[in-house]
Amino acid sequence: MAAIRLGDVAPNFDAQSTEGDINFHEWLGDSWGVLFSHPADYTPVCTTELGTVAKYKAEFDKRNVKVIALSVDGIESHNGWINDINETQQTTVNFPIIADEDRKVSVLYDMIHPNADSQLTVRSVFVIAPDKTVKLMITYPASTGRNFDELLRVIDSLQLTAYHKVATPANWNNGDDCVVVPAVETVDIPALFPKGFKEVKPYLRLTPQPNLN
Ligand code: BEZ
Repeated sequence: MAAIRLGDVAPNFDAQSTEGDINFHEWLGDSWGVLFSHPADYTPVCTTELGTVAKYKAEFDKRNVKVIALSVDGIESHNGWINDINETQQTTVNFPIIADEDRKVSVLYDMIHPNADSQLTVRSVFVIAPDKTVKLMITYPASTGRNFDELLRVIDSLQLTAYHKVATPANWNNGDDCVVVPAVETVDIPALFPKGFKEVKPYLRLTPQPNLN
């Protein structure tokens, strides 16, 4: 099976989840999506990650992003663990967790890296656009909890590119100047970016973030 690459259509699948059986593409609908795997239920780092994602629901909703987690444990295990997450992280898990006991989805998305662990998934993150193409893939080891502020930052960047024809420079944060994508001719910039632009070099044109007042 070929590895998934950026721009590919995210492979579709049917799966059991804590919110019922899903068909992934139907579940995504017209939203952006985040599919993220964690190595196992009842583990400390994962507990903090899922609690954090639950607390960020309003941030994901604001960006029209649906979030779904995955691990290779079963529904009963997931449901018991969700109680622990809610208790220890003072939140309510508000997104589905896929029960991938047969590892079908983990294999489809290349989430098991045998030289790291032969059975458990690594911490994969896939961001999927409304057209179902994969826009971002990040892989962390089991021992490193993910930075979900970084995930939101990248989603903001992806959406700026998708909707406003800008890229984002190194260490960009919401509110900073953006880079006009190379496909836009300098002559066309004033019409497209009425807030103005600065031509540092013919190939490096900066403009205020277009979607802010
Ligand atoms: C954890 O989620 O805490 C974890 C899982 C597997 C290996 C190391 C940490």
